[in-house]
Amino acid sequence: MFKPVQVKPDVYWVGAVDWTERSFHGYTTDRGSTYNAYLILDDEPTLIDTVKVQFSDQLIERVSALIDPAKIRHVVSNHVEEDHSGAIPRIMELCPNADLITSSPHGESGLRAHFGDDLPYRPVKTGDTLCIGTRTLTFVATVMVHWPDNMVTYDAFDKILFSNDAFGQHFASDRRFDDEVEVEEALYEARKYYSNIVMPYGFNVGKALEALDGLDFDMIAPCHGVIWRSDVARILSLYHEWCAPTSNETAVVVYDSMWHATERMALAVVDAFVRLDVPCRLFDLKVDHISNVMPEILTSRYLAVGTPTLNSGMLPTVAWFLAYLKGLSPHTGWKGRAAIPFGSYGWASLGQKEVAEMIEKSGYEMPLGTISHQWAMSDEELMAFEQQVVDGITAFRG
Ligand code: FEO
Repeated sequence: MFKPVQVKPDVYWVGAVDWTERSFHGYTTDRGSTYNAYLILDDEPTLIDTVKVQFSDQLIERVSALIDPAKIRHVVSNHVEEDHSGAIPRIMELCPNADLITSSPHGESGLRAHFGDDLPYRPVKTGDTLCIGTRTLTFVATVMVHWPDNMVTYDAFDKILFSNDAFGQHFASDRRFDDEVEVEEALYEARKYYSNIVMPYGFNVGKALEALDGLDFDMIAPCHGVIWRSDVARILSLYHEWCAPTSNETAVVVYDSMWHATERMALAVVDAFVRLDVPCRLFDLKVDHISNVMPEILTSRYLAVGTPTLNSGMLPTVAWFLAYLKGLSPHTGWKGRAAIPFGSYGWASLGQKEVAEMIEKSGYEMPLGTISHQWAMSDEELMAFEQQVVDGITAFRG
């Protein structure tokens, strides 16, 4: 039932498709996901990564269709996180002749912490190689993309980069390659993946891309989603764009509202950006999930966040969003980006004050300060507010 898929001669996808995953530790995965593992059949058969523990049977059935697992000589664990390592204990039982290759020191320590000291760990560092017959594999650390232990495995013979989480997408499909699916959907999911998982570590992504620069590959085989073989240059170029501290002249307006006063202000902010000829997306946190906001935040120079005051603070939906934003903001800061805290209040502007405090912690500039309005704005006041945003952003742009 669970068949392997040839990736290149003697290289197979043997992972698992998770059609029904809808929340990946809080990030909505509307398209499900895959946990990709790869088997290289050479003199010393080698398994690259495993799968989430619940999908161990799929992995084992696919591997066993190609080879007696006892013949596998190496299992490479590029990343400790359990969506890729969960099946390791069972796999190592079935592969008694295999060592377990992992990054030093964090991969080894992480696997030991999860699975004990009895597995045949073989730690490797950047530049270490492993000859498995015709092929020689090279290991490259990709520290903090997005855990300390991350590494990738490069197969020069097949020109494949086994990239683990990097370049991945939560994208379940019956197809394995980028040119077999609607590639724009896969690229959107790659963007969503980057913005919800990798975004804080843009500096480290830049370092990892530098490390990969000299490698000659025509296929990127990540551990989630489709394998890149036709759009390798495009996904690489997008990663270069996403990790850079630059931004586009686009805006994101995020809000929640109680009696529509803050909502009307949010719509006025949208109108201001329309007048500035800045493409703008609006998200209502009552209906939009925070993980769907992040792909827009990733490259947008402007952010406006609106809340009324509720119980001496911001609405819980807005607090949820801002806590998420703070955690995902790049550790090197948002260079040259502007945010506008705004909203209405009845008798104390404490909601907007809290928004401003959180935005400051996220590293945005706030060139317009905090814009609070008691009760609901009249039409004239909304027009004045819109003009205030136009003038403030115009001055910020210089
Ligand atoms: Fe797909 Fe960091 O695990």
